[in-house]
Amino acid sequence: MPLGKAVRHHWLLEDDVVFLNHGSFGACPKPVLDVQSHWRHRLELDPVRFMTRELPAQLPVARQALSSFLNCDPDDLVLVQNATTGANAVLRSLAAQFKPGDELLTTSQAYTATHQTLDYVANLTGAVVVQAYVPFPIDDPQQVVDALVSKITPRTKFCAVDHVTSLTGVVFPVENIIPIFKERNIPIMIDGAHAPGHVHVDITALDADFYAGNCHKWLYAPKGSGILWVSKKYQDQIHATVISCEPGSDFQTKFSWTGSVDPSGWFSIAAGIDFMKSLGVEAIRKHANDLILGARQKITSALGTSYGAPPEMLANLCTILLPVEGPVSPKYSPILHDRLYDEYNIQVPAMAPDGKACIRFSANAYNEASEYDTLLAALQEILQNK
Ligand SMILES: Cc1ncc(COP(=O)(O)O)c(C=O)c1O
Repeated sequence: MPLGKAVRHHWLLEDDVVFLNHGSFGACPKPVLDVQSHWRHRLELDPVRFMTRELPAQLPVARQALSSFLNCDPDDLVLVQNATTGANAVLRSLAAQFKPGDELLTTSQAYTATHQTLDYVANLTGAVVVQAYVPFPIDDPQQVVDALVSKITPRTKFCAVDHVTSLTGVVFPVENIIPIFKERNIPIMIDGAHAPGHVHVDITALDADFYAGNCHKWLYAPKGSGILWVSKKYQDQIHATVISCEPGSDFQTKFSWTGSVDPSGWFSIAAGIDFMKSLGVEAIRKHANDLILGARQKITSALGTSYGAPPEMLANLCTILLPVEGPVSPKYSPILHDRLYDEYNIQVPAMAPDGKACIRFSANAYNEASEYDTLLAALQEILQNK
């Protein structure tokens, strides 16, 4: 099946916008939104019946569909609002065990919410946050492994690592990182906010202790479709970020009623998976990866800059350096983003890892090569005029 423009009508995305930021919030296709509307409609037909009967009946159905896609036991998986909520549940639960001087490890490229939650827990407990510096540009996935290993000490009591980073769009070698922490009995959480749908995720094979993620970015689910997987070993220690109204201490019950929520997004996850399968999971990934690799080659050679990461660390997101001297100001990202959007109708984030001027573009089923030419032309104009 042809992808690109031929399938763009499945999305509500505005025609005149070059949409190269699937990464930040995903983009939900119309057939999936229709399924969500169906559930919202059912809810309002009789909210009491829905919340007391249909919700408990449908939750396991949603978890089953997702666990088949991610290859895990549905009993170990709970639905939350987003990856941030999932990661908060883990860290704030484990805080009870951290002592002054314990070290909580992460990388310099972790997502802001992870840094802030680690800081919060460290302030609460006297633990300290340790950052393993991961460079950008990066040449080899082993650099991530080495950076983390160099920071492990007898005091390391937790590690949080991104599966795909927000800052640089790079895929970390989590399959090589996890065993290092498991061998040392250090709890390890993978932040998979960008992973399900984007890269192949086999939770059982990964065998981490915790996996927080999103279905609303790359799995085409509506917003508010987050997941948290917890290994059986830790389930009795983990509580929901918002304590459940439902009495009971088993893992599923603790996450079953964290206040009244609209569950229509969760109930549309299966439709997101089906939609992805209808276009071809591997076909989408290949289409997008081809676009990414082609675009970065064209843009970097035209601008005279370097790649940022080797191809094996790239899936459907890519960050490249721009030819701008020295560290940029904190205003660089919003200013460049706004210029590209307001003057050229291009939706793409500007990033600044280590103060280096970069741009991060994504590719998805609905994108095609000419859109990256538009991005290049806009960047050339902006850079010429500064
Ligand atoms: C690596 C990473 N972790 C966590 C998040 C947070 O996702 P959410 O806002 O859906 O919780 C993001 C969002 O972009 C992310 O890139």
